[in-house]
Amino acid sequence: MKQIKIEGGNILSGTIKISGAKNSAVALIPAALLSDEEVSIDNVPNISDIDVLSDIIMYLGGKVRRDNNFIKMSLGNLENKPIKKEFSSKLRASYYFMGALLGKYKHVDIYFPGGCSIGARPINLHLKGFQSLGATVLEKEDHYIISAKELIGSHIYLDVASVGATINIMLAAVKAKGETIIENAAKEPEIVNVATFLNNMGAKIKGAGTSEIRIMGVDYLGSCFSEVIPDRIEAGTYIIAGALMGDCLKIQNIIPEHIDSLIFKLKEVGCDLKVFNDYIEISKSNNMKAVDLKTLVYPGFPTDLQQPMTTLLTYCNGTSSVIETIYENRFKNIKYLNKMGANINIKGDEIFINGPTNLHGEEVVATDLRAGACLVLAGLAADGITTINDVDHILRGYENIIAKLTNVGAKIELIEI
Ligand code: EPU
Repeated sequence: MKQIKIEGGNILSGTIKISGAKNSAVALIPAALLSDEEVSIDNVPNISDIDVLSDIIMYLGGKVRRDNNFIKMSLGNLENKPIKKEFSSKLRASYYFMGALLGKYKHVDIYFPGGCSIGARPINLHLKGFQSLGATVLEKEDHYIISAKELIGSHIYLDVASVGATINIMLAAVKAKGETIIENAAKEPEIVNVATFLNNMGAKIKGAGTSEIRIMGVDYLGSCFSEVIPDRIEAGTYIIAGALMGDCLKIQNIIPEHIDSLIFKLKEVGCDLKVFNDYIEISKSNNMKAVDLKTLVYPGFPTDLQQPMTTLLTYCNGTSSVIETIYENRFKNIKYLNKMGANINIKGDEIFINGPTNLHGEEVVATDLRAGACLVLAGLAADGITTINDVDHILRGYENIIAKLTNVGAKIELIEI
């Protein structure tokens, strides 16, 4: 079992370089399957989710070569085998093999997807989308079996602007006959990254990044080279670290407009930050004030930064309110923040953070990926030693987190017990 140990209270200064976006990369790798040739992707983060997805590509007969953050896949002669529990249940994004394999072979057999336990996380909209393109969906012994004689372009309205459903329907539709229109599509930057990648392979997708995406089906997808966009959630996490403990901490290789909602919220809090073309400089501020925030789909405040932001709010003067509108169960971090000395009350989908409070080191548990990020931030700011258990959740999503923080002055280590 692995633990992260942090000795809190150390000032962070220097530069942290942001990696490629986890939530883009985990879609690009399954999407590559739609090609019949060689596909290369750069800026792929070295995280365990990517290892599992590469293993699935190899299990299906693809050739994968990885060199640091570069990945090259040969996808000529694949065998469309059932995707087993040992792969699928390890992460949420295994569900992108549904759209990719259905699009390519008109058939997929896959064990239910896994992922962080932060709510019910239904995939009814993905399945409705596939059905609308002409597929039948069967649930059999924890597997989905989805098949179609042929996939025919369709007009689809998403009840919720779901990231996963938007991408999965795009994947299934790129080789369908005729035009597919997705209304109320998700607008996250990761959707644009996936659409650009597919277009580089020869797909015809227009409107990604808006709420109406139009996909004209094509017969063949070929080779391409693409890059993963910078990870806006990793960037946001380290920017918050800078707001807590920074002295001119520079967060580099970012696209600031992807995190406008965070930047404006930090300004409202009273943080000392400067925004440049592709980096942000941030220092600890002593007089931060409470704010209200609500998680929303992009370009609103991202749910994935809600838990990290809560750590900062414990140091702000007054009562902050945070409303979580995307997931029903994304407050598991609160128990541990309170154990560390925070004063936070949960009322349904809203929390009230009474600050400022001084956090102190404790033994805590990373119940999910972003809860883990929240506790790392708390550990950096707290007095004394914080020990975090179940850190595999954190390592699934943050490339080289220990080295990145150590390089800027944190006292943090990963230990095997
Ligand atoms: N929803 C449905 N039906 C569906 C799909 C979604 O009701 O068929 C609901 C969900 O229950 C949720 C909301 O729609 O309430 C949004 O879910 P969405 O589908 O957008 O999320 P996702 O695709 O499962 C991705 C990221 C999450 C991130 C969300 C929102 C990946 C692999 N995961 O999840 O990332 O929180 O979009 O931005 O891309 C994380 O990185 O920590 C993480 C959880």
